[in-house]
Amino acid sequence: MVSVRDVAQRAGVSVGTVSNAMNHPEKVSAAALERVTEAIEALGFIRNDAARQLRNGRSLTIGLVVLDVRNPFFTDIARGAEDRATQAGLSVLLANSDEDSTRESAYLDLFEQQRVHGVLISPFGDITARLAQLRSRGIPAVLVDRGSTDLTFSSVSVDDIAGGRLAVEHLIAQGRRRIAFVGGPLSLRQAADRLAGAREAVADHRGVTLEVIEIDALSVLAGRTAGAGIAHRADRPDAVFAANDLVAMGLLQALVMQGGGVRVPEEIAIIGYDDIDFAAASVVPLSSIRQPAELIGATAVEILLAEAADPEIKHRQVEFRPELVARASTGA
Ligand code: RIB
Repeated sequence: MVSVRDVAQRAGVSVGTVSNAMNHPEKVSAAALERVTEAIEALGFIRNDAARQLRNGRSLTIGLVVLDVRNPFFTDIARGAEDRATQAGLSVLLANSDEDSTRESAYLDLFEQQRVHGVLISPFGDITARLAQLRSRGIPAVLVDRGSTDLTFSSVSVDDIAGGRLAVEHLIAQGRRRIAFVGGPLSLRQAADRLAGAREAVADHRGVTLEVIEIDALSVLAGRTAGAGIAHRADRPDAVFAANDLVAMGLLQALVMQGGGVRVPEEIAIIGYDDIDFAAASVVPLSSIRQPAELIGATAVEILLAEAADPEIKHRQVEFRPELVARASTGA
């Protein structure tokens, strides 16, 4: 590993001059700058930003932990976070908990070791105590895509109960009466809240039934499996509310394409949640409940920067309204 000392020796200058050449070139003569640049290139020196930032006491990176990096919803969140972080001269390190508490915990440890500027996290496990410990060590955290139940942390999310209600009210408005909710695990707050909203909508309308088909992950595969089950039933629902767009796309594949032989929306209407880019481009353009993912990411960074600058600042729970996007899959 080439060190700053090796560069200084090759360039015939002090270690301080090498440091200035990299961080404050205006303080270095043109001749010295040229010698340092030549030594860095000749030796293949890579500067150690992490060490420099630690000496300054504050890293220039933000740690973002998402539930499922394959889900475009979270890459949109990361994009919004990165755009806002870049404006403040920071970078974002993206980590995927994969809905696994052990992985989630390992990434929080890694970000603490990296002394990140702060942590954004879409929580899977109960990590409140761990986040409080990070904060006591100078690393603030903001919950993303999830409200903070005990208000001891700031959070940025969408009202998923309102979103679930909006989805099922749309299906009912389209004349559907035998509705199935496909989502899970119901231990995941997002799935549970969307189901709660669906139940509220059904309770307000006589003659409408709600069947719950719990799945083990909000994935295309889980949606495809649930769709294959529905396709082979005589007593099929006439509409499905999928807890996110990946599940909805799996359902569409099984019902429409893989021998399911079901006509969507004529026989079964389908609505998803998130309104990821693929929703509109789906084999049957997918109706969905839109979450402003990039705005969620950018807002979370905004709050995190404020809390990093002033640990005493009041925590904020920002909750965006969900938006119905009606397309062909529900007959719009
Ligand atoms: O990760 C599960 C789901 O929760 C995502 O699809 C998105 O809807 C988030 O809110």
